[in-house]
Amino acid sequence: MPDLFPEDLEKWHILESTLLNIFNSFDTSEIRTPLIEPTDLFARSVGDSSDIVNKELYSFLDRNEESISLRPEGSASVIRAIVQRKQEHNQHKLWYQGPMFRYERPQKGRYRQFHQIGVEYLGHQEGASEYELISMILEIHQSLGIQDYTIKINHLGDSQAKEKFCKSLVSFLEPRIEDLHEKDKVRLKSNPLRVLDSKEKSTQVLLKNAPKFQDFISKKSKDFLNDLVNAFKDQCDIHIDQSLVRGLDYYTGVVFEIVSRELGAQDAFLGGGRYDNLSNQLGGKDMYAIGFAIGVERIIELLNVQNINQSLKVGFIIVGEQIYKKTYKIANDLRRSNKDIILDTFLSEGSLKSQLRKANKNNCDFAIIIGNEELKNNQVIWKDLREDGDQELLNLNELLDKYTNL
Ligand code: HAM
Repeated sequence: MPDLFPEDLEKWHILESTLLNIFNSFDTSEIRTPLIEPTDLFARSVGDSSDIVNKELYSFLDRNEESISLRPEGSASVIRAIVQRKQEHNQHKLWYQGPMFRYERPQKGRYRQFHQIGVEYLGHQEGASEYELISMILEIHQSLGIQDYTIKINHLGDSQAKEKFCKSLVSFLEPRIEDLHEKDKVRLKSNPLRVLDSKEKSTQVLLKNAPKFQDFISKKSKDFLNDLVNAFKDQCDIHIDQSLVRGLDYYTGVVFEIVSRELGAQDAFLGGGRYDNLSNQLGGKDMYAIGFAIGVERIIELLNVQNINQSLKVGFIIVGEQIYKKTYKIANDLRRSNKDIILDTFLSEGSLKSQLRKANKNNCDFAIIIGNEELKNNQVIWKDLREDGDQELLNLNELLDKYTNL
């Protein structure tokens, strides 16, 4: 995991504040759960035959010889928390963010410590919540100015349908096992559905004639999926992908993944779906559940700061004699009068020219210039840095007024 410096974090902050506004507008509240959980939680939820639990968990024995793990994802902990509080009968709309840990082979877009921002809607059966989450996802893309993306979506039916399909897939593949790629031979034994996800050519050829999920799920499920896709297809690139099964065992019902061609090999930057059985599996009462998580490092790659509405930035330039008491009162009054604007004070060193250069480099839209003369007369120069550099002389009240209404 690379270190993140202030210049890297600019995009992170834009992402975080944009998402917070969207979560608030959907009346979704934050939950925070620990980074460490008993290993058993992930074995019982994500699945002990999944790659995540099998090969990627950071697990160790604590001083009490109990196996604990760094969380590889957030949904299991959220459900554990709700079950532990005996809140399964209530409805919850929750979001979370933070680091996750998977011992994968690092490469571009794939880290051993990475971050997710996730949403979980609990207590809502299949229906409106699928529509609401896809709407939220579209809103996220629109607000972040992300245009080049594809939503792949599928329906895994209920657990019986999933099991029946799995059996049929195994009976189809077992006699043809020699044609499968080596990796997929292992998957066929440990987690057959994951064979569908294979990127290996030989396996993909074989899968062309394999049984299809759609033939095992009910008409109701199929209709629901088709209606969902039809409702959004005018607004985004969304299509059914029958090979989409997702790498975590807890899913049933609608699952989805969002990919972008701009990302290279690790092209999925959001994944999610319904997982109505997890509460039960973790010893809780029945509770409907659906959600998604965004891979922060990957979505950050897609952000183009120019496409995002950002706060205006004003450079605060003091040249000549510094009377901190007076200049910092001006800066303080300005900050209080309009909290949406960034006032960049460069801690006032250097000539006017070098400070103006700094203001341009820091992408300031305007500059406030205070020299000896201005300070004496309680005036400032207001300079537009965006176009032809118009400037005007303002007294302090006019400045405050302008800044407040910017
Ligand atoms: P996931 O698909 O395993 O789903 O992860 C979600 C996203 O996290 C991925 O689409 C990817 O962008 C990012 N991600 C995963 N592994 C790495 C890695 N090693 N490095 C960088 N980014 C990574 C889940 O975790 C589910 N809990 C999502 C969910 C929430 N389903 C329902 N509710």
